[in-house]
Amino acid sequence: MEHQKILVLDFGGQYNQLIARRVRDLGVYSDLKSCDMTVEEISAYAPVGIIFTGGPNSVYDENAPHIDKRVLELGIPVLGICYGAQLIAHTLGGEVEHAEKSEYGKREFSFVKESPLSEGIPARSVCWMSHTDRIIAVPAGFEVLASTESCPVTAYGSSERRIYGVQFHPEVVHSEYGNQLLKNFLYHVCGARGDWTMKNFVAEQVARLKEKIGDKKVLCAMSGGVDSAVAATLVHRAVGKNLICVFVDHGLHRKDEPEEVMSVFRDGLGMNLVKADAADLFLDALAGVTDPEEKRHIIGKLFIDVFEKEAKKIGAVDYLVQGTIYPDVIESGKGKSAVIKSHHNVGGLPSVVDFKEIVEPLRDLFKDEVRKVGTELGLSDGIVWRQPCPGPALAIRIMGEVTREKLATLREADFIFRDEIAKAGLMRDIWQYFAVITDSKTVGVQGDFRTYENVIALRAVTSVDAMTADWARIPYDVLEKVSNRITNEVKHANRIVYDITSKPPATIEWE
Ligand code: XMP
Repeated sequence: MEHQKILVLDFGGQYNQLIARRVRDLGVYSDLKSCDMTVEEISAYAPVGIIFTGGPNSVYDENAPHIDKRVLELGIPVLGICYGAQLIAHTLGGEVEHAEKSEYGKREFSFVKESPLSEGIPARSVCWMSHTDRIIAVPAGFEVLASTESCPVTAYGSSERRIYGVQFHPEVVHSEYGNQLLKNFLYHVCGARGDWTMKNFVAEQVARLKEKIGDKKVLCAMSGGVDSAVAATLVHRAVGKNLICVFVDHGLHRKDEPEEVMSVFRDGLGMNLVKADAADLFLDALAGVTDPEEKRHIIGKLFIDVFEKEAKKIGAVDYLVQGTIYPDVIESGKGKSAVIKSHHNVGGLPSVVDFKEIVEPLRDLFKDEVRKVGTELGLSDGIVWRQPCPGPALAIRIMGEVTREKLATLREADFIFRDEIAKAGLMRDIWQYFAVITDSKTVGVQGDFRTYENVIALRAVTSVDAMTADWARIPYDVLEKVSNRITNEVKHANRIVYDITSKPPATIEWE
């Protein structure tokens, strides 16, 4: 049976993806689509409920996005959030007041009337506000449901029409009962069944892939990253040996990574996994190269060459698997610009592989869902919670020329840092954490000897999407252990520094 869907119409606000993720977390599938969708398209999409997101506009702005009144006459429940709430009021004949001053931050609000939205929520609680205009009169047939001191219409609605609006943002964690309110909308207003679970997803996808692929051949570039690992495991569950995975060992991986990929996927899961040993090829090509972009270019090109060679050995295949995920395909907001991963390491593959069609089994999933699917498929936490690793891997964490000696030093230092982060239980709190070998040497004293060795920098950041990031506040005693261990256990490192720069102005990687 097809799962139920909630349609999140994007009016350009900053929390839009978050709304869709929250809805899915509550067990209902949701898609984020541009607010340009027509009433016919919405009707054909057949959602069990619609959410209008917030947005930066005032309903009175010349180019403000509007909504076809017929969308509100489809009989499908609607929840408007912030701008979405104002838009519903404005469209149905209520009154929105244009304000000069914004209201921003936590506010206490009170329900003035019970409704399906207020179930299980105390009469007074805290919500997160971020708006300028405000609703001062609700449309005929609607009732005010909640207010704050400065915002007379904090929530309103009509239980008969099953249309509601809230001025605050229930999707952000600062709204104490926001999640409960969304849940109420889904389950008490839209009649959701809660049929979106990763267990169902796996069962549905495996059946679908089996039917689509049958006994044809599929090829996948396995990088060891979460997305490609989960995509390959899912396809493998459906078609077994007809999936052929290629892992390119470019000699730039972190410590033990190639061995782990082979042991988990080939030995453990029994995948048809080919390893292309190309370390010397890559390292020779990188000799003498110091410019970061040139390194990226060389690695990207060689990766495709090596993959092409392997693909030729396999011959023509019917499908090529890619680990594309939902944030890569969302076409949201008014700009309609698709988000494209700027440095996707398998981006050039389709042009060199002889195949008929691309299979993207994760294209409907958010990252946290991909992780849950991985767990559902039996992959370990080490694979599922692996931090993102850039395509060029350690080559852009070695400042200046990449040499075998620097690689060996960096691998050990990086391993110790990761090991201590894992021991301190911080793996899931930090977005990325790694060591960098700088292009500087400093004087030190080890034993009774003077040393002149490399400076190792530790980089750890928190982030949601890698677009911006903050340096992670790792406890001093963890940093101390890492520093002691690296200087004691790793050759050619005598000084450790911690990077305390956010992005911007710095980037996450050093090159
Ligand atoms: P920056 O350093 O630009 O990195 O703040 C943002 C995110 O992208 C990753 N990154 C790369 N990924 N190829 C990749 O596949 C690359 O050349 C590359 N450079 C940076 C980086 O690790 C971070 O997650």
